Amino acid sequence: MDIVIRGLGFNVPSRVLTNAELEIMVETSDEWILTRTGIRERHIIAEGEASSDLAIPAVEHALKEAGFTAKDVTHVVVATFTPDFVCPNCATTLANKMGMNGVMAIDVNAACSGYLNAMQVGRGLVCLVENAVVLVVAVDALTSRTNWEDRTTCVLFGDGAGAAVLTRTTGADDEGLILDMEFRCDGNVGDHLTVIGGGSRHPYRAGDVVGPEYFVQMNGREVFKHAVRNMDAICSKVLSNCGKTLDDVDIFIPHQANLRIIEALGDRMGVPREKVFVNVDRYGNTSAASVAIALAEARQLGRIKRGDLALLTTFGGGLTWGAGLVQF
Ligand SMILES: CC(C)(COP(=O)(O)OP(=O)(O)OC[C@H]1O[C@@H](n2cnc3c(N)ncnc32)[C@H](O)[C@@H]1OP(=O)(O)O)[C@@H](O)C(=O)NCCC(=O)NCCS
Repeated sequence: MDIVIRGLGFNVPSRVLTNAELEIMVETSDEWILTRTGIRERHIIAEGEASSDLAIPAVEHALKEAGFTAKDVTHVVVATFTPDFVCPNCATTLANKMGMNGVMAIDVNAACSGYLNAMQVGRGLVCLVENAVVLVVAVDALTSRTNWEDRTTCVLFGDGAGAAVLTRTTGADDEGLILDMEFRCDGNVGDHLTVIGGGSRHPYRAGDVVGPEYFVQMNGREVFKHAVRNMDAICSKVLSNCGKTLDDVDIFIPHQANLRIIEALGDRMGVPREKVFVNVDRYGNTSAASVAIALAEARQLGRIKRGDLALLTTFGGGLTWGAGLVQF
């Protein structure tokens, strides 16, 4: 069944955190951050702001572009691992704030690769339910799980949200046709990127001191290697599934974790630099929202035109990764 992305949107919080400000917080430098990651600045939530707040403007934009209102939505699927609360889930919190009570509302947790995984769940729902209008949201406020004393991680992350509206196709004229998606995980190497504290294995206990285990911990070098190797392989797989080659791809939108990963991946795959979309310099790694923001922004900037083939790939904790091909 043909499923299309009808509308896209994204949003980041207004507070900008620059490398110069990080220099005051931890022992680092603008030069180190820029040369090792390509990040110049990131947007972070303010006191009292949470994931569902970030999602609302992204959703409003996506719905408007799709020609729908909140009342038309039948399902809400939110990719996040930083929901406002452990319970209720982020999808229900968002649905409630946007006047969508009555819909099915679920969260999907695949860390930084959540967006495409949530889209795959959305595709399944569109197949199952005639006339479904599925709202796929990818949002993370990862700075709420950032240890601001750990210079190896705190310079990398930012907050943000992206949204997409999925329906069945209405005819041959449709833009945003999802051709295929592929997903993988490898829990054997999950220890390289974790948030351990606060789960059922390491539950909160009243009076506990909140230690580093309650925040993102990462073996950056190992994650780097797995990210490049696995995104390369899964991109090849999704292209071959569709009988396409890299020459058919007009724009490549990889997970925006780090410019060095993006360039190493593009070079390994043989993608010309001008086809690679990059915004990590302005947003940092926004986790699940990363490719969602990049896709919506690339479209908004006119980098994606009608007829273009977009190759998307995500990578994150788990470890988990995925890729998708979209014909605009
Ligand atoms: C995190 C990352 C940028 C670190 O770059 P790197 O070149 O591997 O650097 P290393 O971790 O080897 O650290 C090199 C040195 O810089 C230091 N360093 C680490 N963070 C620093 C910072 N913010 N400022 C200054 N120095 C820093 C280290 O302590 C180390 O010093 P040492 O040699 O004296 O021990 C890189 O590994 C990376 O991008 N990994 C992938 C991370 C990622 O994107 N994860 C999310 C995927 S979803």
